[in-house]
Amino acid sequence: MVERIEELRRGAEAEISSASDLDALETLRVRHLGRKAELTMILRGIRDLPAEERGRAGAAGNEARQALEALLDARRAALEAADLDEHLASDAIDVTLPGSPSLRPGARNLLARTLREIEDVFIGLGYRVMEGPEVELDFYNFTALNHPPGHPARMAQDTFYVDPATLRSDLRIDADPATPGREAENAGGGDSAPRLGTQGAAAAGLLPPGPEDVVLRTHTSPMQVRAMEAQQPPIFIVVPGRCYRSDPFDATHSPMFHQIEGLAVGEGITLADLKGTLDEFARAIFGPERQTRFRPGFFPFTEPSVEVDVSCFACGGSGRLPGGPRDPLCKGTGWIEILGSGMVDPNVFGFVRERGYDADRVRGFAFGMGIERIAMLKHGVPDLRKFFENDVRVLGQFS
Ligand code: DAH
Repeated sequence: MVERIEELRRGAEAEISSASDLDALETLRVRHLGRKAELTMILRGIRDLPAEERGRAGAAGNEARQALEALLDARRAALEAADLDEHLASDAIDVTLPGSPSLRPGARNLLARTLREIEDVFIGLGYRVMEGPEVELDFYNFTALNHPPGHPARMAQDTFYVDPATLRSDLRIDADPATPGREAENAGGGDSAPRLGTQGAAAAGLLPPGPEDVVLRTHTSPMQVRAMEAQQPPIFIVVPGRCYRSDPFDATHSPMFHQIEGLAVGEGITLADLKGTLDEFARAIFGPERQTRFRPGFFPFTEPSVEVDVSCFACGGSGRLPGGPRDPLCKGTGWIEILGSGMVDPNVFGFVRERGYDADRVRGFAFGMGIERIAMLKHGVPDLRKFFENDVRVLGQFS
């Protein structure tokens, strides 16, 4: 019996040691140690053996079983390790290899790029970049920019009013007595419930809008006042960002568009500083030969106000293309309008006098321009909608 056991053990050991994969190993386990395996049968029959054989056969049988189990485990571990190595080798992906076919990396939208270029010009002149809220109080968008309630200049901007009932309660703004102008507007109100101006009456078209109404900002100019509230003079900032007006979506309009605002306030700042600053800007963006020209304009928050033109970069300012035809870009005038600007109106300083902006002591200039317009002019884009359609054939031309 013991001999048979040893024979079975040797045979099984030889087979297990050369098992080539895990499936084969499992087959061998069943064959040699399973319920119907010969060794199992022998072990099961030990107790029926004559007493003198029982001890040796039992010991040999159990030893064989344990040896085979250990060998199976060892072989299984070896096969699993080999399996893993093989998978690692065959599945290896070199993530540093270029894609196939290789794709061009993405690029910034031309508007974002234009914005960065303009920011860079002003950063180079010592300005800081600031951003502000797109959902804005009428106070900052109009009232503190010298458009009092009922002022006709409000009508010139096709404003989206926001119904305060649609705002999250934590966004509703209670009267802030620290802010001059708004306090005056609330005087006599008396109740302590959170109030948002006319409680949507303007949005509903019932009352003329007032400083506590909420709008989608129609320009980046409201940040002039917010920035001056937050920082004493001197202040040199540019404010890029999205603006909204109830405009059509056509070749030159979009209900959402981008502006960049500039504000420079300090002692002794003059219109000549504004001219020099905008000359520098025009040359950096439109070419070293560019000049600027001021025409009288009107904005409620600057006095005097100017419309700024840049000498045409298509015809060099002559109004004629080579060979004589009229330059269509500047319509033969040699000049292209690029932005609105002026000296900060003393009334605007009146809203931030307590923050150090005494109109008798400080002067400043402000300007605001549309990013879409600058990008269209500079790159000859004929239709503003192209910026937003995400057609890579269009956008890819500018990457
Ligand atoms: N906010 C004006 C607009 O959207 C543009 C503008 C004009 C900004 C004159 C200014 C400025 O800062 O001084 O039409």
